[in-house]
Amino acid sequence: MGTPEKKQKKILVLYYSHSSQSHNLIQAMIQGMADSSVTVNRYRLQPIEAQKFPIGTVPSTVWKMLRTFFRQRVPIEPLPSYCFDPYDLVVLAGPTWSYHPSGPVLSLFDRDGDRLFEGSLVIPMISCRGYWRMHWWGLKLMLKKYKATIPNVIIFTHPNKEPWRTVGVFLKLAGQVPERMGWMQPHYRKFGHTRSQLDEARSFGEKIVGTLARDEDLAGLDFNTGPARHDKS
Ligand SMILES: Cc1cc2nc3c(=O)[nH]c(=O)nc-3n(C[C@H](O)[C@H](O)[C@H](O)COP(=O)(O)O)c2cc1C
Repeated sequence: MGTPEKKQKKILVLYYSHSSQSHNLIQAMIQGMADSSVTVNRYRLQPIEAQKFPIGTVPSTVWKMLRTFFRQRVPIEPLPSYCFDPYDLVVLAGPTWSYHPSGPVLSLFDRDGDRLFEGSLVIPMISCRGYWRMHWWGLKLMLKKYKATIPNVIIFTHPNKEPWRTVGVFLKLAGQVPERMGWMQPHYRKFGHTRSQLDEARSFGEKIVGTLARDEDLAGLDFNTGPARHDKS
């Protein structure tokens, strides 16, 4: 008699991305998850009304930041039915918007939170320019309402120095190209995450799959290894 076949693990990767930063990280992470021991389903939240990137002007960017500070919801299209299947792990990813989860993710919690997260194992992944702590606390609170287990968190910050990082993101959202502005260029080479962060995301995907396949605890993984190290307490 051979050893019994191990049941394939199932992972759902659910995310929103406005300016492709979370999207690129998730693409890399999913590449890292390519393994016969898991099935990975993914879905990118689709706002009903397109969210323009860049937002376009300084006043419209300030207005968006103000509304998002007050946690304005962005209504989203219904999720495909496979999102509501049972999963061994849900990766919930997206950007920080004015210290909070983005409007589409807030809408997701309002409408589908109980069906998606009740009793689930969830690893949040945050993409932000650098100010993720309130977002992380807020997510933990919302997920705990559904008795979800959150063994770990993945945080990617833009690895530029302040104040250039904040100025650069603002200019980019307002429709400028900070990488090409004479006074910004020496301090700001690139908007968003770097290639080495994408490599990291890929290696995180591999680690998650390996750990799940061995039935080990995801809390034991160290996701705080890259250029933008931080204290996640
Ligand atoms: C309306 C708005 C508000 C933002 N507020 C924050 C913030 O409070 N803290 C932060 O670190 N980044 C903030 N950002 C920057 C994004 O989190 C960051 O650029 C992220 O990488 C974008 O990911 P995405 O392309 O997947 O949407 C904000 C971006 C937008 C559009």
